[in-house]
Amino acid sequence: MDIRNICCIGGGYVGGPTMAVMALKCPDIQINVVDINKERINNWNDKDLSKLPVYEPGLAEIIMKCRGKNLHFSTKVREMIEIADMIFISVNTPTKTKGIGAGKASDLKWVENSAREVATFSKGHSIVVEKSTLPVRTAEVIQSILNSSQNQTKPDYENKSFDVLSNPEFLAEGTAIDDLLNPDRVLIGGDNPEAIKSLRNIYKRWVPDRKILETNIWSSELAKLTANAFLAQRISSINTIAALCESTGADVREVSRAIGKDSRIGSKFLDSGPGFGGSCFKKDILNLVYLAEYFGLPEVANFWNNVVSINYWHQHRISKIIIKKLFGSLSGKKIGILGFAFKANTNDTRESSAIQICKDLLEEGALLTIHDPKVEKNKISKDLPEESFDPNTWDVLDSVEKTLKNTHAAVLLTEWSDYSNLDWDNLAKKMVKPAWIFDARSIVDKTKVLDAGLNLWRIGDGSI
Ligand code: NAD
Ligand code: UGA
Repeated sequence: MDIRNICCIGGGYVGGPTMAVMALKCPDIQINVVDINKERINNWNDKDLSKLPVYEPGLAEIIMKCRGKNLHFSTKVREMIEIADMIFISVNTPTKTKGIGAGKASDLKWVENSAREVATFSKGHSIVVEKSTLPVRTAEVIQSILNSSQNQTKPDYENKSFDVLSNPEFLAEGTAIDDLLNPDRVLIGGDNPEAIKSLRNIYKRWVPDRKILETNIWSSELAKLTANAFLAQRISSINTIAALCESTGADVREVSRAIGKDSRIGSKFLDSGPGFGGSCFKKDILNLVYLAEYFGLPEVANFWNNVVSINYWHQHRISKIIIKKLFGSLSGKKIGILGFAFKANTNDTRESSAIQICKDLLEEGALLTIHDPKVEKNKISKDLPEESFDPNTWDVLDSVEKTLKNTHAAVLLTEWSDYSNLDWDNLAKKMVKPAWIFDARSIVDKTKVLDAGLNLWRIGDGSI
């Protein structure tokens, strides 16, 4: 099937950048991104590119090139589904908050609604592509919703037919455009070779053929959850070793380097930090846990659940170290937090370890001053809600110097490059002695901090 018109339902962190890159590489295909969120769509259409709803290096340039030519953003869900040959479903799939599977299973409400819209509005043959991260066998749900529309008797529906493919996304925030332009692999799951070929032909325009993998649909769905689970597992693993390093005199950076040289282990994702954050790792592992429980595999569920438990434990472990080093009490003490985003180069704070650690410190009576180059105060207000945390006990400041003034400690939680070259001699003069630097990202210059007369704790460093 020759694809001339694509509709993507959901213009978020995945739908927006993915369709932008597809539009760039396929100038002969018209691509419509539709979303029920009017404000988001207005932002995608804003002339001022700094207002785009997603910040990713390189994205604004692509939007400038393609928007209004073969890339369009609108709320016209019905109209764009009607004219599409291929429809991507790229909507949110958060963890369920109530009902069966609450706290673990994915809430498929938005996916189901999208499938119903496709079932109602599509015409002729449509290829429906799951882009959202979904539990195994969701394609079955989508297919059965789509099939139900084929039974209708209205003349409009007479020739309606569908293929469902799974095509999960592996981009990481902060590097999304590069990940989309040069993916390690593109995964397509499905059972109709013709439909698979249609999607493959799109990716082939810029992805080498050998990198486009085909699997059955269930393997594709499960591979996405598994990839995130394995990545998160490596972080939890190295974070447990960091704790052991601190007790034994070993240094986790040296251990990571040594094991990473083993080509079977590989060197990536071995940086010990304050614990993994981001919108997906926890959600996807909990989904895997739910699936394992559902299919009667409690040992499998326990194994993966521990990856998440270790992450909580590790975040609280850091909070406890801070409390202990500050003589067991934080009451009335001022602490500067450097970095609130879940990783550098994004303004996203979803599941950021900074949230948990700040909550722990506030509960111990500390007064926090927070700095982050990209995260705005209103976002932090949502993460430290007024109902639970008195807004007078924390503040956001626009420079590191102001943030650390009169503090007893600085806690580094995001690896912003700005934090690697701080003038500790100068900053030390502004802090209350004895002052501590808690570096959970191994980003500060150890010698400079110690030479400035400051006490240093560094993640996984048993040599201090
Ligand atoms: P998001 O919340 O940023 O965007 C989803 C969008 O879908 C929202 O704007 C929402 O308004 C829209 N939407 C929901 N229902 C709709 C409907 N019926 N019609 C039209 N629009 C609708 O989510 P995201 O971060 O883009 O993630 C989307 C999916 O991709 C999730 O399953 C996620 O797990 C997966 N994923 C995310 C990332 C990431 O880095 N964020 C990476 C890989 C995969
Ligand atoms: C992650 C995956 O890397 C993507 O492949 C996947 O598509 C995406 O989730 C998703 O499904 O949403 P993302 O969460 O954007 O991407 O960012 P990562 O770079 O994976 O970082 C996640 C967390 O792990 C961050 O808090 C980061 O600081 C932490 N991390 C990462 C470490 O603590 N150590 C490391 O060595 C690497």
